[in-house]
Amino acid sequence: MEPKHPFLRACLRLPVERTPIWIMRQAGRYLPEYRASRGEAGDFLSLCRNTPLATEVTMQPLRRFNLDAAILFSDILVVPEAMGVPLRFATGEGPILEPPIRSADDVKRLRRIEPEKDLDYVMNAVGSIREALDDKVPLIGFSGSPWTLATYMIEGGSSKTFPNIKGMLYDQPTLLDTILDRLVEAVADYLNAQIDHGAQAVQIFDTWGGALSPKAYRAFSLEPMRRIVEKLKPTGPDGQRVPVILFSKGCGGMLEHLVASGCDVVGLDWTINIGEARKRANGAVALQGNMDPAVLYASPDRIREEARTLLEAYGPHPGHIFNLGHGISPDMNPDHVAALVDAVHSESARLHGNGSS
Ligand code: CP3
Repeated sequence: MEPKHPFLRACLRLPVERTPIWIMRQAGRYLPEYRASRGEAGDFLSLCRNTPLATEVTMQPLRRFNLDAAILFSDILVVPEAMGVPLRFATGEGPILEPPIRSADDVKRLRRIEPEKDLDYVMNAVGSIREALDDKVPLIGFSGSPWTLATYMIEGGSSKTFPNIKGMLYDQPTLLDTILDRLVEAVADYLNAQIDHGAQAVQIFDTWGGALSPKAYRAFSLEPMRRIVEKLKPTGPDGQRVPVILFSKGCGGMLEHLVASGCDVVGLDWTINIGEARKRANGAVALQGNMDPAVLYASPDRIREEARTLLEAYGPHPGHIFNLGHGISPDMNPDHVAALVDAVHSESARLHGNGSS
């Protein structure tokens, strides 16, 4: 049975009346109501673990804007934490995972996760958000990619140069492979549990794929993601297809390889023209993206122009989900997001031959 929601239809390259849009990090610090909820929870990780508040912050952007999908409120780093790597968020410093995984001995500390037990709060959030959504828009579940999660586990936090994981990649590739194998298993089990609990699409965030050479990207980032795609359940409990979105930031040059991974949708950052990407993808996948998040600093009129240019570059073909090329900035003016969502809907309706939006 064909899905009715424009977001799911676009993921499967079915025709839509107007281009669907959601925004990476749509629930977050740029919204005052998010900051209030985080204050109520105490801190960010407590917010993720609090079912009613995680549901509330997921719904906040949907109340303000006419978005076409919700994304589970959580974080990619809850998986390494469940595997046994302690996680904390220090103000101003970002995530800290200590002690990091650097040796074969450290790997012994990693546990196989049981998502229903170790990440029960995520599964509770998925169920609770589905209820709150009442089938108005679909829910996207997500995970980090094995490579991106490994960067945090091996560096012990955020990094710009990745000295430890890249040293391991070149000196001890089999040790890195062992860690990535464990992550393939964990991420596949985790996403399948989200699907069981009601996630209607899943996105794998490969935020740091672009830090790799083409050869290393294929071996250490893409191949583990391909194996996950192979392990994912094709349909949810309702019998509907669950599309898989791969977002490898900075990997436009790898598009043909991403297309060959078996995913349904490739997420693009803003360093590639989406019209050219569509030609190169040759109708084999849908594309998600890819406006420079910084366009939202401009005036609403300029935002509309940029949205129209991007929609026209993709053209009147099926299979486009509008998004930013990366997460929205915490200092963004919410009114500019409203301008973008309205522009995408009205301009795309015209492009698809429906004068009214
Ligand atoms: O998109 C959404 O609205 C869903 C929620 C979501 C969050 N993190 C909430 C969050 C998603 C999908 C993520 C994914 C995530 N987390 C990624 C991949 C996506 C990307 O941006 O490339 C990464 C690399 C992380 C790891 C992470 N989490 C970092 C590095 C940080 C700190 C960064 C910062 O700006 O402080 C986080 C914290 C985080 N995750 C916040 C939110 C809303 C901010 C926490 C706060 O409230 O202070």
